[in-house]
Amino acid sequence: MDTAKDRIIIFDTTLRDGEQSPGATLNIEEKLTIARALARLGVDVIEAGFPYASVGDFEAVQKVAAAVGTEDGPIICGLARATKADIKTAAEALKPAAKGRIHTFLATSDIHLEYKLRKTREEVLAIVPEMVAYAKSFVDDVEFSPEDAGRSDPEFLYQVLEAAIAAGATTVNIPDTVGYTTPSEFGALIRGIKENVPNIDRAIISVHGHNDLGLAVANFLEAVKNGARQLECTINGIGERAGNAALEELVMALHVRRQYFNPFLGRPAESTESLTNIDTKQIYKTSRLVSNLTGMTVQPNKAIVGANAFAHESGIHQDGVLKHKLTYEIMDAQSIGLTDNQIILGKHSGRNAFRTRLRELGYELTETELNKAFVRFKDIADKKKEISDWDIEAIVNDEIRQPPELFRLELVQVSCGDRARPTATVTIRTPEGEELTDAAIGTGPVDAVYKAINRVVNVPNELIEFSVQSVTGGIDAIGEVTIRLRHEDKVYSGHAANTDIIVASARAYIGALNRLYASLQAANQNQQVAAN
Ligand code: KIV
Ligand code: ZN
Repeated sequence: MDTAKDRIIIFDTTLRDGEQSPGATLNIEEKLTIARALARLGVDVIEAGFPYASVGDFEAVQKVAAAVGTEDGPIICGLARATKADIKTAAEALKPAAKGRIHTFLATSDIHLEYKLRKTREEVLAIVPEMVAYAKSFVDDVEFSPEDAGRSDPEFLYQVLEAAIAAGATTVNIPDTVGYTTPSEFGALIRGIKENVPNIDRAIISVHGHNDLGLAVANFLEAVKNGARQLECTINGIGERAGNAALEELVMALHVRRQYFNPFLGRPAESTESLTNIDTKQIYKTSRLVSNLTGMTVQPNKAIVGANAFAHESGIHQDGVLKHKLTYEIMDAQSIGLTDNQIILGKHSGRNAFRTRLRELGYELTETELNKAFVRFKDIADKKKEISDWDIEAIVNDEIRQPPELFRLELVQVSCGDRARPTATVTIRTPEGEELTDAAIGTGPVDAVYKAINRVVNVPNELIEFSVQSVTGGIDAIGEVTIRLRHEDKVYSGHAANTDIIVASARAYIGALNRLYASLQAANQNQQVAAN
């Protein structure tokens, strides 16, 4: 990667910080699919995970490093606390990457030092250069983050950053870990770092921020104006709590308003050259892919990628746009790769056309997966004349991207209406292969189905989110159901699509219960291993 300071480096952390969103857990195949899409999007760095955190994370970073971390591909980064064990494990996971980066971090705010780390400033000041140098013994490319920088004493921060750079850090990342800072404060913090860290010219200044007050993107744009050249962000802004700064919003703000930002990067204002390496036409596809695989739906009014982002409802706006697009549109929907949900396939479309379209949408399926999805496609094409890209995504996610099938829904049947008490009957095959049938009455048909399922599965849980979305318009539309449930502070999500929303609701619930059940089984096995 060129380290030119007249452009913005996009560091994507969807697979690390983004995956920390409650219920957004991805398996390795899903992570690889997203990593490939990020590479096509043109991100400079992919933070693929936190290798020391779990065996699954280690494997995911290793596989992404091998598959996507090619010579002309992005840098692959692994997160590590400032300890030798973390750093060594990250280095091991990153080995297959042509360009690997270790990102190590240690908190610098007094609150974190006193209550979390129980360390003095002097101790932190000694650990940081030692651990950066240790990371440097494995890779040339080392990033250091003073966690909770937004609430740290700037004078102490300057000292820590100077020590990190002297020890070999090539990027210093400034996190607003709790999303507390305002744009002018964040800009001033970056300016202060530029002016007061003597060796700052030897490193790229990066920013990382959470959206607790909805200010992450605004903070980053102020940071750019004051010298930040790397932005750490996630697709659709997913991430811990209120999420991270959204990649698509940052990239499009820098694209649409490049004449405003150019001078801050030392370019003539009128330069039309892109400020990032992102292929903006890949944005929409990547957003859909991440939303589908994580089960984190995008709110309709979300900037850039929300369903309404380019929709004009009021007559005055529609009239204006018809007369001249620029009256109410600051960017073209096509610039993010949004075509008008074209109708592309139908019941006469063959396997090849189906596979080709899937590839264009970012899905690489095995032969078995393709066969399964194609059978489902044909089935839906019989019910629905026109199959859109969104239908295809829904089919793939429903058929292929399901958690391990421990409980399997064999039958669901409801009876409801304005004079009937909603009643559901379900038959479920248990992990042991037994078929159990039960029935329940609920406040509505979905409630009745969930109560009946609970009677069979019998794992306590609290339903915290239930949403149904129609994939396309029309009475024959596929309904997509996303649900989230909680068990002992952990959130599990389920996602399913069907032309019958009761069936989709039941399958989504079983999906989430399967994730929950699998994690209980894994915890049990770990306990047994520990006891032996
Ligand atoms: O929010 C944060 O501070 C982080 C660091 C690990 C960079 O995610
Ligand atoms: Zn973070």
